[in-house]
Amino acid sequence: MNSQINSEEINQEGHLTIGGVDAIELAQEYGTPLVVYDVSKIRNQIRNFETIFEKEKVNYEVSYASKAFSAIAMYQLAKQEGAAIDVVSAGELYTALKAGFPMEKVNFHGNNKSLFELEMAVKNHVGRIMIDNFHEIELLSQVLKENKTNIDVVLRITPGISAHTHEYDQTGQVDSKFGFDLDSGQADEALKQVLNEPRMNPLGLHAHIGSQIFELNGFKMAAKKLVQVAALWREKYNFIAQVINVGGGFGIKYVEKDEPLKPEEFVKAIIATIKEETAKVNLPMPEIDIEPGRSIVGPAGYSLYTVGSSKVVSGLTPYVTVDGGMGDNIRPALYGAEYEAILANDPNKQADEVINLAGKYCESGDILIKNALLPSLHTGDIIAILDTGAYGYSMASNYNRNPRPAVVFAENGKAKLVIKRESLEDLVHLDQSL
Ligand code: LLP
Repeated sequence: MNSQINSEEINQEGHLTIGGVDAIELAQEYGTPLVVYDVSKIRNQIRNFETIFEKEKVNYEVSYASKAFSAIAMYQLAKQEGAAIDVVSAGELYTALKAGFPMEKVNFHGNNKSLFELEMAVKNHVGRIMIDNFHEIELLSQVLKENKTNIDVVLRITPGISAHTHEYDQTGQVDSKFGFDLDSGQADEALKQVLNEPRMNPLGLHAHIGSQIFELNGFKMAAKKLVQVAALWREKYNFIAQVINVGGGFGIKYVEKDEPLKPEEFVKAIIATIKEETAKVNLPMPEIDIEPGRSIVGPAGYSLYTVGSSKVVSGLTPYVTVDGGMGDNIRPALYGAEYEAILANDPNKQADEVINLAGKYCESGDILIKNALLPSLHTGDIIAILDTGAYGYSMASNYNRNPRPAVVFAENGKAKLVIKRESLEDLVHLDQSL
């Protein structure tokens, strides 16, 4: 049996259960492909983060990076757990508004926020704008004047740290499109401009070094750098940072060879570094903010598929094709991301065949798992790919005009449909005839 599944997750019928609900019943009721979240895993991870901060007795904000999975129900869940959220677009903000999420707990990120987006954020009184660039300072200043209001801001800097992760997932190195550079003096200039804007209240600074990071060192270095910059800003500008935000990026286990620390262990080390470094330079202990996305929703998500056709060519690895693919999970095709799958209708069955688990999209690159070790598969079997909760549905597309899947929340033996499957009619509802 796959080591990511324990025996309590298999019921008397010998089926995988998710949040106490039989995965095969879910597939029958809602169809496949289907994304299912084990809600208690999401709650537990948010609580684990909160507990670390409480234990360490520091002020904090756990801000769920909602790009990992954005849905009305997800924002409502974050609200129930007392988390803040990061949004990066009018669309995510709109979804949070529809969810009744408290706007004062919204942090607005993005490296090219439009006038429309900034107006929407200001008019709805979001908690904080995470300032990324000079153009944004200008736009925001204009919007604040027009709306005769003030707002809290946090400055995003690039700490000059290259995280060991996929190139597309690196953001903290000097050569990055995000945030203000330190060495060239950009970050200082940004602070000066913001201090001159009476309607902007700078709270502190932010850095996000990348995503799916396993090494502690990058986070410690980033935390140290942020404190150093804060110390410099006190000296030069008499500015005291009340907030240090270290971003997200805590790596999760996708496959056997991944051995990440527990997400909260990263946070423990970050807190220790910030405590140590602020004490050295005699800065007051700031509020520490984190922005985890993947670590909150990734391990909680399962993608269910039905096996369809297969192709065997002698001497080559066989292809077994499911009813989804790169339209509901682009990560293997885009990043070479790896996953593990299990046979949901019989997870205990001996895995003794190596196959390529292919998607149904018209691209050779649409392989969900290369060389997957699985039991022999038959048409109609239900496959569960594990740990698909982050950046799966949120990056889904209608490529080949396939509808995006439904999403279900499962908890304590009960299932709740939280996003409907797109219908064929949905696929054409924006089209106009000639
Ligand atoms: N904060 C900021 C400013 C970010 O840009 C991100 C992710 C996060 C927090 C959350 O990072 P997480 O804890 O989820 O690693 N589509 C890619 C991931 C892109 C991450 C973008 N930024 C993937 O599927 O791997």
